[in-house]
Amino acid sequence: MEQENKVQWIYSSRGNEELEERYDQWAQDYDADLERDYKWQGPEVAAEFFAKYVPKEARILDAGAGTGLVGVVLTKKGYRDIAAMDLSTGMLEEARKKNVYREFHQMVMGETLDFPTDFFDSTISIGVLTVGHAPASSLDELVRVTRPGGYIVFSLRPDVYEGSGFKEKMIGLENNGKWKLVEASEKKQVLPRGEPDVFHQIWVYRVI
Ligand SMILES: C[S@@+](CC[C@H](N)C(=O)[O-])C[C@H]1O[C@@H](n2cnc3c(N)ncnc32)[C@H](O)[C@@H]1O
Repeated sequence: MEQENKVQWIYSSRGNEELEERYDQWAQDYDADLERDYKWQGPEVAAEFFAKYVPKEARILDAGAGTGLVGVVLTKKGYRDIAAMDLSTGMLEEARKKNVYREFHQMVMGETLDFPTDFFDSTISIGVLTVGHAPASSLDELVRVTRPGGYIVFSLRPDVYEGSGFKEKMIGLENNGKWKLVEASEKKQVLPRGEPDVFHQIWVYRVI
């Protein structure tokens, strides 16, 4: 694939269909490109927070699992029961090759997820809740499918938090007694090579 800046190419997708097509096309090169051009740190950084709270035997949902980089890091930390869910079947096929997930599901965040209520012990979603990807409204479904007492850990750019409905949704869920904020990280540089000006925060919530 020849696109100069893959991240900008992805962001310029017009709707879920094009986004899915572009991730399908990128899937085979995604890991190598992110390592070479961006030094993507999101999975490692988030897994440190996740492991502080979530026991190793937990049944975990990796929402927007992509090629499985989060699954690889969590498996190294001793987690064994992880389900991968993503919009793109091409990305899920790459994730399958990693041999770190128990299940694979093609679903769209922002729509109703085809999992029972309280099904997972904890959920992680890294690099997915952002502009042109999964909207703030998808947090409702992540809360529904995660059992009370379980954790939801996700990354968010501070500008997206402020400007795309996430702040209102996250505070609203807390005011409605759906979850409680456990921790919000410092702003961290997660694409130090390609996009050194882009920062993410890791948010940790406990479902009520
Ligand atoms: C930047 S990648 C991150 C993948 C992985 N979590 C990681 O840390 O490398 C974003 C992933 O989110 C998926 N995605 C984007 N919008 C989505 C949505 N609405 N529902 C489910 N997955 C979505 C994409 O297909 C892609 O695999």
